[in-house]
Amino acid sequence: MSTQLPETETQEAEPETEQPSKGDERRAKRRRRAAERERERQAEEAERAREAEDTVQLKVFRYDPEVPEKEKPRFDEFHVPFTKGMTVLDALMYARDTYDSSLTFRHSCRQAICGSDALFVNGRQRLGCKTQIAELEEPIRVEPLPHQEVVKDLVVDMEHFYDQMEAVEPYFQTNSLPEGELDEQRQTRENREKVKMSTRCIWCGACMSSCNIAAGDNQYLGPAAINKAYRFAMDEREGEDIKQQRLEIIEQEHGVWRCQTQFSCTEVCPKDIPLTEHIQELKREAVKNNLKFW
Ligand code: SF4
Ligand code: FES
Repeated sequence: MSTQLPETETQEAEPETEQPSKGDERRAKRRRRAAERERERQAEEAERAREAEDTVQLKVFRYDPEVPEKEKPRFDEFHVPFTKGMTVLDALMYARDTYDSSLTFRHSCRQAICGSDALFVNGRQRLGCKTQIAELEEPIRVEPLPHQEVVKDLVVDMEHFYDQMEAVEPYFQTNSLPEGELDEQRQTRENREKVKMSTRCIWCGACMSSCNIAAGDNQYLGPAAINKAYRFAMDEREGEDIKQQRLEIIEQEHGVWRCQTQFSCTEVCPKDIPLTEHIQELKREAVKNNLKFW
């Protein structure tokens, strides 16, 4: 008896692959040529900038977890022609528009109002739009804010920072309505002066990123949120019971008592808010709040 297996009668059919049409090929070729021309233009531009006398050298942090070739953090170097009054944000925009359109960073107002472009420049938290290139030492190292998760390049996840801000109920609350015919809830000049600086916060997150305590304790409310609590706790238009409620929030285990008066938040705040002072004042308020006289 033969032990040979019967020969397969038919070969398995190869899956049919769709052939690109002539038109598709022409379009792909055009796209390749355009990309090549763009690369050449960028290389020439980079060369020109390198040779120009007044050029600024930037070393920019790059990272993109979604692109396999870019998921390993690195620094890219850009040479940007210097112009008078140029800010770090201007230089980044030039680098993005001229050399690499995938370079990612946040910005909006460009006048230190929106707080979206806080960066770590030459080892310090700063607003890109407020920081003059002329005042920095080269090469200028631009990194995302430390102690925050990096989403891509210079963009960090601000969710936790916003959660901490929200935890202190950052809005005005009152029990009493204005007297007489007034629609406004008026404040005395003296009280306005007291809270004035605390109202300047633009939620940039620079203070939180500079704080060693926040870096080690993820639950610490942090300087910006405590400053926000100060802004309302010191506003005499809020009711006593609401102030009490605010003090309970800031007195909690991860509240004001965590601050070790290192002043780093005050040093980096782009709006010059005396954050450490405000935290100390709230500590005094908390002590007064807990004193009992028999
Ligand atoms: S307190 Fe200053 S550093 Fe902190 S978020 Fe507000 S503006 Fe930025
Ligand atoms: S771009 Fe708005 S603060 Fe810098």
